[in-house]
Amino acid sequence: MAQLKNDLLLRALLREPVERTPVWIMRQAGRYLPEYRQVREQAGDFMSVCSNPDLACEVTLQPLRRYKLDAAILFSDILTIPDAMGLGLYFAAGEGPRFERPVQTASDIRNLQRPDVEQKLGYVFEAVRTIRRELNGSVPLIGFAGSPWTVATYMVEGRSSRDFATIKGLATEDPEALLLLLDTVAQTTTDYLNAQVAAGAQAIMVFDTWGAALGADDYRRFSLASMQKIVDGLTRENEGRRVPVILFTKGAGPLMTDMVETGCDALGVDWTTDLATAREYVADKVALQGNLNPATLRESPEIIRQGVADVLESYGSGPGHVFNLGHGITPDIDPEHLGVLVDAVHELSPQYHD
Ligand code: CP3
Repeated sequence: MAQLKNDLLLRALLREPVERTPVWIMRQAGRYLPEYRQVREQAGDFMSVCSNPDLACEVTLQPLRRYKLDAAILFSDILTIPDAMGLGLYFAAGEGPRFERPVQTASDIRNLQRPDVEQKLGYVFEAVRTIRRELNGSVPLIGFAGSPWTVATYMVEGRSSRDFATIKGLATEDPEALLLLLDTVAQTTTDYLNAQVAAGAQAIMVFDTWGAALGADDYRRFSLASMQKIVDGLTRENEGRRVPVILFTKGAGPLMTDMVETGCDALGVDWTTDLATAREYVADKVALQGNLNPATLRESPEIIRQGVADVLESYGSGPGHVFNLGHGITPDIDPEHLGVLVDAVHELSPQYHD
């Protein structure tokens, strides 16, 4: 395997000294890029891109050709796991993900099979191997999965939801059934992430987009506990290096103090908590990744630069910061504006490191 030429991301995630703050962007491969839209149109739809390792590799590399990014992230989705469990994932045009066969009753949950990940999700691991080969050691590759709670919201609701009425009903009426579902997803996710690591993923991120829709106690019981199982089961070293694990609960706020106790290496921070406050919550026990408001990318280059400066200032000096947005880049963004952000991180961050 080629020697890693730029390991800023891996060092920052482990709170080791760096010369400047590394930067990558959630959803950096996606619809704001015309070259992505073209590949997706040719392929037919989003899942056809994910399931073709050469196309998944191509779109993973597209943003790296445009911007001085310090990481690639596997092009895939958090819903590949329920798809592999036979729920029938499809994307209705303009409406987001849908499942043909949602899991709604206790008997649906008991009948759910843990898939053989090598057999059902081999296309993902092949994409990881292809991307590593093409990156040729330029930057590290991040693998990912959804948190069991977040994935379960789609499995139970059958689609994106605003109020999570069905799954919250299950949490009150039959918590044991929900815990069984979360456990099944957590075990499969652990196998899935370990196979990504074995195929070459050099850091892992768990996306818990909807954990904060739960109250604090339910968050600990249903979301954090299932992420804990994943952290406990993950391969933490490969190719002679530590494989850092990033947990991201959008809207976590003070719950970050609990997240630290899982033994993860870093937390993703959305833009509703400033990094100075987040740093107090985590007491410098883990690295932090974030957290520019994605809406800032709609503004002028001057305002984007100021936004970058403010985020760097909010974290302050010392290691342990990875620059990112507080959530994914949206399809309406002008690609030139992301260039302004990345250049500003390169230019403004060295002063925060000795
Ligand atoms: O960050 C990256 O560049 C890696 C790729 C990635 C995608 N989805 C590609 C994608 C990652 C890390 C995800 C994670 C994901 N998927 C999450 C958690 C992260 C977050 O944003 O909070 C969630 C909740 C999903 C589920 C999902 N997939 C939804 C709700 C949607 C539709 C909404 C939307 O943005 O259109 C998707 C589709 C999806 N996943 C797209 C991409 C690029 C858009 C599909 C398209 O090309 O039309």
